[in-house]
Amino acid sequence: MSSDPLTPYHGISPDAALTALGNPLDTAGFGTIAEACRQGRDDLAGRGLDDQGQKTLRRFSTWEITKYLIPVAPAHFRRVLRQNPDLPQGLTETDGGAKWFTLDEVLRLRAFFAAEGAANRDYLPYRPQGLAAKLLAVANFKGGVGKTSTAAHLAMSAALDGYKVLVIDLDSQGSMTSIFGGKVADEWQTVFPLLARHYGEHLRGENQARTDRGEAPLPLEDTVLQAMDLRAQDLAQKTHWPNIDLIGAQLDLYWAEFQVPVWRMNARSWKLWDALSDRLEADGVLDQYDLVILDTPPALGYLTINALAAADILLVPTGASFLEFESTGRFFDMLHATFASIEEGENIAARALGRPGLSFEWDAVRAIVTRYDGAQQAEFGALMQAYLGTVLSPYRQDFTALVGQAGEQVAGIYEADYRDFNRETYARGRAAFDETWAAVKRLLIGAWRRDELATSQAAE
Ligand SMILES: Nc1ncnc2c1ncn2[C@@H]1O[C@H](COP(=O)(O)OP(=O)(O)OP(=O)(O)O)[C@@H](O)[C@H]1O
Ligand SMILES: [Mg+2]
Repeated sequence: MSSDPLTPYHGISPDAALTALGNPLDTAGFGTIAEACRQGRDDLAGRGLDDQGQKTLRRFSTWEITKYLIPVAPAHFRRVLRQNPDLPQGLTETDGGAKWFTLDEVLRLRAFFAAEGAANRDYLPYRPQGLAAKLLAVANFKGGVGKTSTAAHLAMSAALDGYKVLVIDLDSQGSMTSIFGGKVADEWQTVFPLLARHYGEHLRGENQARTDRGEAPLPLEDTVLQAMDLRAQDLAQKTHWPNIDLIGAQLDLYWAEFQVPVWRMNARSWKLWDALSDRLEADGVLDQYDLVILDTPPALGYLTINALAAADILLVPTGASFLEFESTGRFFDMLHATFASIEEGENIAARALGRPGLSFEWDAVRAIVTRYDGAQQAEFGALMQAYLGTVLSPYRQDFTALVGQAGEQVAGIYEADYRDFNRETYARGRAAFDETWAAVKRLLIGAWRRDELATSQAAE
């Protein structure tokens, strides 16, 4: 026999394989595995927590602030601080070292510069007065394409820009919730009660009509009754970001996927797809925040449909590979079929009643290439661009090792201290998500501007 190494899959000894195999696994075995994961997870997540078990947001340096957050020259920044001792002065770690500010302090400084600064600089984020917050959904039924990473980084970018953001996690995996350090005991701290309440309000309306017709009302089950006075604000929790709140998710939210169709069977006229957007609007969320970001699970279930129907802007992350492109095409196919069938169902009834029909509309829908490797995927990227045209965002989100590294501590690039990295690496990694935000911010501002013009035209 030669001493050359074998291929890894030849020459396997059955007895050695048996020894390595271990015992068969029973159902309880899954519980043991889950417990091991939970311990590891808590341990890892704990590394980003302070001694009270809370996540804290790091401070931002003068370099970062003047380069990324408030567009002023560093010398001017320092001069204004010296001249205004009431403004936050920052902390230094060493004598004469760089000054570091909390995000709250950055927001105060920004407001100051906006009040006294040159009018042509956009210190403050654009949002037309009196217009509602925009809802942004990030969705694709393909798993692992970067939905959560994109959504989380967009929330942080928007917050750094000074927008007030509500993040809603609709994925029972709860990744977004972990990133923002959310604590969710059960489905009652997720969007679930909002859906229940929407159904309950619908049933009450139905029952009014039934009573008028002399029919017996349909009973409201306990779950629904319990939800009737819960508001989105009761479900939102603060995060370690001063201007990001969270409605979290955990495993029990998956229950909604079973409960919603049962309710719909019970009341065929319940517009389940409107549940989330109607409740957010009714509770005043759209006035309280600038941007609502919805992260969805890798499935086109009822929660995703609610997110899609609620969304003003829909972002569909996809990798620049054949399988992901193909799968993303199927996702758009399913969107077409799903919303066409909802519209059709509604419009039969609407026509019969002589009411205007239902027609869904989005301010903007964009696919966006994520985890892009320019050296390997340029050709495929260009091909996708040729087929998808303007639907594909021209900004490709580069693959960056920074996300993976930051991911170990369940943090985003914006939460990482740049001093932990080579400055080049940091700048490139950060640029990937800055570009993603720039592309989305353009959509956001464009959509608001369109609304603003429509409102002023309507007033003329
Ligand atoms: N730009 C990027 N560069 C490098 N890695 C990335 C990038 N974006 C996402 N990733 C990594 O890809 C993996 C999947 O990302 P993510 O969890 O955001 O996908 P997802 O679509 O939300 O997944 P799921 O379908 O399970 O919800 C993660 O390990 C994440 O760190
Ligand atoms: Mg995800």
